[in-house]
Amino acid sequence: MSLKGNIDLTRLPEHIAIIMDGNGRWASKHGKNRIFGHTNGVSSVRETSEGCAELGVKYLTLYAFSTENWNRPITEVSALMTLLLKTIKAELKTLLKNDIRLKVIGDMAKLPVGVAKELTDAMQRTANNKRMDLILALNYSGKSEIVRAVKEIATKVQKGEVSIDAINEQVVSDNLYTAGIPDPELLIRTSGEKRVSNFMLWQLAYAEYFFTDVFWPDFTREELYKAIIDFQNRERRFGKTSEQLVTK
Ligand code: FPP
Repeated sequence: MSLKGNIDLTRLPEHIAIIMDGNGRWASKHGKNRIFGHTNGVSSVRETSEGCAELGVKYLTLYAFSTENWNRPITEVSALMTLLLKTIKAELKTLLKNDIRLKVIGDMAKLPVGVAKELTDAMQRTANNKRMDLILALNYSGKSEIVRAVKEIATKVQKGEVSIDAINEQVVSDNLYTAGIPDPELLIRTSGEKRVSNFMLWQLAYAEYFFTDVFWPDFTREELYKAIIDFQNRERRFGKTSEQLVTK
């Protein structure tokens, strides 16, 4: 039986972020090469995106390629880029049909020209969609994102557009890739690893973390539901005591 009925739709996380991990290990478990694992990971991307949109989650961020991932063998990097290109092309219709807006966080300038072009096109064509934002973290690094924001703010100070006294948390948030997007309340990482690996370091300050041993290609809607139910069973205190929450 589906766990969907156990989810309280009035208390959904508005923004879920996922570190999709374990494609390589899933492939070797099946006696195949790593690229086979990534290819099979695409169906989990589809399952999760559809599952989140159907429930009413407003933002889903997927860590698809980190700045550190360039250090993988060239064959794997090119296979991942080709897979990304093919998937964006193939799924554009579904994004349009389901009213999903595509966004990218990360440094797109360093992506292969063809990939960047396809992504820009898909982002433009889905720009007015309202149901859910699907945000792909590509060539993304949380530390680099913060450095970039610091430089942008410093430039504004230099030009006299912002005073040093006016710099606060909101100003920093407004200069990140995720400007205008609420912080994730739930972070999911698959494959048993328990790290954030330079992902959304600023934005995850108050997120609940859910770790599962399931490898990414085996991550289905039901696994997503498990994570959301676990999230809903936790008490989010934001530094307050349990008593304060009750009387609030
Ligand atoms: C992590 O598994 C996975 C990645 C680095 C890439 C994720 C990419 C996809 C699922 C396919 C394309 C994505 C989109 C959004 C269309 P790993 O290789 O680190 O696995 P391992 O830890 O077992 O080696």
